[in-house]
Amino acid sequence: MKLIACYSNKGGVGKTAASVNLAYASALSGNRTLLCDLDPQGASGFYFRVKPSEKLKSNIFFEGTKKFANAIRETDFHNLDLLPANISFRDFDIFLSRMKKSRSRLNKALKPVDGEYDMILLDCPPNISLLSENVFKVADGIVVPVIPTTLSQRTLKQLYEFFKEQGYQASKIFPFFSMVQQSKSLHLETMEAIRTGNKQVLNTWIPFSTHIERMGIHRAPALSYGEKEEAVAAYAQLWQEVQRLFVH
Ligand SMILES: Nc1ncnc2c1ncn2[C@@H]1O[C@H](COP(=O)(O)OP(=O)(O)O)[C@@H](O)[C@H]1O
Ligand SMILES: [Mg+2]
Repeated sequence: MKLIACYSNKGGVGKTAASVNLAYASALSGNRTLLCDLDPQGASGFYFRVKPSEKLKSNIFFEGTKKFANAIRETDFHNLDLLPANISFRDFDIFLSRMKKSRSRLNKALKPVDGEYDMILLDCPPNISLLSENVFKVADGIVVPVIPTTLSQRTLKQLYEFFKEQGYQASKIFPFFSMVQQSKSLHLETMEAIRTGNKQVLNTWIPFSTHIERMGIHRAPALSYGEKEEAVAAYAQLWQEVQRLFVH
């Protein structure tokens, strides 16, 4: 099983859009795939029209393996399951801070389903917290959407600094550019500057596209309704790159 986190310490950068499409592409490639929506806003679940069960409003990561497995839902797509977020996920850090080995808890929670999936994707909330430290520890790879602006460049730098300070493996971080507007010279310049200083930046970049914004109306991964559009094709390419890196 491979565990890939889609993470950024910045909000609104395309984490969920990438998670949803990567999970779909992974399943389509024949991998038994689980998408875990760790963001209490529940956007991944919304895109797949999957709601948490009423009975499972608690934080199932801390309540034993059975509850965790019961909370997993099938999506409309073959090979693709989803663990929907619920509102209690906003208290992840409170739960975690009460625990011993709080930084390894996610690893423990995912163990029981390890054998059932080839790929687990984590759609993460945008902060540096105990939960994200769990993610940094357990993930095989961390894909980080970066909108090529000065502020995002700064946020990415902060992430690397945090990894260095805390001794996490920066080699797990794979940034990719998201919501790129080629008409903006600032975007192009920032992309070049970041690429020059960082060999881990993925080749694929996702253009800004109203087609992706409209996923909220379709409520399905853009890749699943398959129109030939640049940003949709970019997600397919992003998956190819991720697959080459992590699935052998
Ligand atoms: N490539 C894109 N082009 C245009 N809009 C996008 C693109 N990717 C995401 N969006 C939109 O930007 C907003 C934030 O994206 P989202 O994936 O939810 O980010 P995050 O999960 O990082 O908060 C959403 O409204 C989404 O529809
Ligand atoms: Mg999100």
